[in-house]
Amino acid sequence: MTTLAGHELAGRDAVVVGGTGNVGSFLVDGFLRAGARVFVPSRSMANLDRLASRLGEGRTSRLIPLVGDIGTPDGAKSLQSEIAARTSGLTAVASAPASWHQTASMLRAGFAEFAHVIETRLYPHYLAAEALLPLMNPEGAYTAINGPAGSVRPPQPGMGAIATVAAAPSELVSVRAQPS
Ligand SMILES: NC(=O)c1ccc[n+]([C@@H]2O[C@H](COP(=O)([O-])OP(=O)(O)OC[C@H]3O[C@@H](n4cnc5c(N)ncnc54)[C@H](OP(=O)(O)O)[C@@H]3O)[C@@H](O)[C@H]2O)c1
Repeated sequence: MTTLAGHELAGRDAVVVGGTGNVGSFLVDGFLRAGARVFVPSRSMANLDRLASRLGEGRTSRLIPLVGDIGTPDGAKSLQSEIAARTSGLTAVASAPASWHQTASMLRAGFAEFAHVIETRLYPHYLAAEALLPLMNPEGAYTAINGPAGSVRPPQPGMGAIATVAAAPSELVSVRAQPS
């Protein structure tokens, strides 16, 4: 097992997908403290401004906000080009793009709702991996952040769609980690 000393990211580049969110903003904070330059894509400039103000004055010189939607194929491609143009390789990527979802009953909520949850919570995990894994250094680490919904037994009422989403990202990353 490797023990990390806390300065492995000094002078390195990192990306936090979902970095404007509850979990992601702490990852951004941690990567900045570890000395990394941190790219944060978001669909909203206002969310990026809120992240900068949460981090506080003097803490954002290595924060690179990028407006774009990693949850769509075109958005992910364009963010990939923007990041590729500015880095010689990523040492850390953390992906935490899925927000919580719950209804009274998954089946009564209907297919359109199920499809919406898969599209907005799972596709960004796939697209982030597709866009960012090719930009990683060989020694880099890619982490997909997930919730416990996919492993709660028995599954709780109305959590079916988010549980389905939560069960998938670790498998996506394992599959993509295999040599092709
Ligand atoms: N919050 C918790 O207490 C908690 C606990 C355990 C596990 N988790 C897990 O951590 C992960 C993140 O949760 P969170 O609470 O941090 O969520 P959150 O606060 O809602 O943040 C979600 C982030 O993902 C981005 N995002 C959302 N939908 C997107 C889409 N369709 N395309 C691209 N980006 C999208 C948002 O960015 P923009 O809107 O700025 O684009 C936002 O930064 C989830 O998997 C959750 O299960 C959370």
